[in-house]
Amino acid sequence: MIAAGTEEAQRFRLLAVDDDQVRDDFAAAVRHGLLQRNKMLPCRYLYDARGSLLFEEICRQPEYYLTRAEQEILDARAGEIAARVPPDTTIVELGAGSAKKTRTLFDAFFSRAPGTRAPRLRYVPIDISRAMLAASGRRLVEEYPRLEVQALAAEYRAGLAALGPSEARPKLVLWLGSNVGNFRRADAARFLASVRRRLGAADRLLMGVDLRKSPAVLEAAYDDAAGVTARFNRNLLARINRELDGEFDLERFAHRARWHERRGAVELALVSVGAQRVAIRALGIELAFADGEAIHTESSYKYSAGELARLAAASGLRVETRWRDDAHRFALVLLAPRVTRARRRRAAARGRPVSPPARGR
Ligand code: TRP
Repeated sequence: MIAAGTEEAQRFRLLAVDDDQVRDDFAAAVRHGLLQRNKMLPCRYLYDARGSLLFEEICRQPEYYLTRAEQEILDARAGEIAARVPPDTTIVELGAGSAKKTRTLFDAFFSRAPGTRAPRLRYVPIDISRAMLAASGRRLVEEYPRLEVQALAAEYRAGLAALGPSEARPKLVLWLGSNVGNFRRADAARFLASVRRRLGAADRLLMGVDLRKSPAVLEAAYDDAAGVTARFNRNLLARINRELDGEFDLERFAHRARWHERRGAVELALVSVGAQRVAIRALGIELAFADGEAIHTESSYKYSAGELARLAAASGLRVETRWRDDAHRFALVLLAPRVTRARRRRAAARGRPVSPPARGR
């Protein structure tokens, strides 16, 4: 606990963007998703306070190799990554969670510029779990005396918009954990293009991406023997029960994770055990489920090297460096904005050179 007015408290600020809108969105999204012929629930609602804790537990399961593979790469490459960006860089993290992996980068940044005259490092974690941000932000400023945390409780889009113009400060944007895989491929490119628009020429995006591999390994990663992922998935129904006065019997929805080769994605669903009717009182609806009927909750797209290069190109980015873990399960890519000739010409016409980046405006 940090007392108000202490030095740590001054280095940690938490801003909630659009809280009410998110709550209203949940009701609207549940209604919309469950009244469709192919029932679905948008995955971002998996991460309430409880879901975020369960997700942390998923990351510790032996089958869920993603976290460890990414950590392995960060351990090996953090120094190299820190050396690629200017000293006064702000680290922005999309979907920061507990920011456990980010510590590896903080350590690298601080050991790059040791001593008390080293500049403060600004960290802007963006996450939809306010509880997670509050807990991890406090811990971080206690652990790192030269770290300044400006947390944004927001969805990606609103959080990015709150960052301000691309020229404002040199940045390293982190998007770890293969969260890109939870977007359909075309949506991933659109989202990355919107990130790219916030990047100045010297800014970089560091993205973790899970790679295509054997279906057995992939399916196990999303259906661990201890049943944590199943609980995480069912928490979506529990959340409807809690927040929207729903009557889902969690025992009667089975967790399913299935690799879909053509899409290149693990598809997650909750499958009705037997035919049943379920009321959601706050929405004034009653749903009918056939035996075996699925609610689609999440897709986790996997990438080949070629798919990754195409994704970058479609987003106006280029892969500057790609690192993999020893077993080649996971990739960490450093992406740079691709400056097209047309953009260079337009910038020159306005009298602003594109590179080197103009700062301090
Ligand atoms: N980004 C993570 C992934 O795709 C999220 C995740 C892991 C997840 N396990 C899950 C999402 C289970 C829903 C259900 O790997």
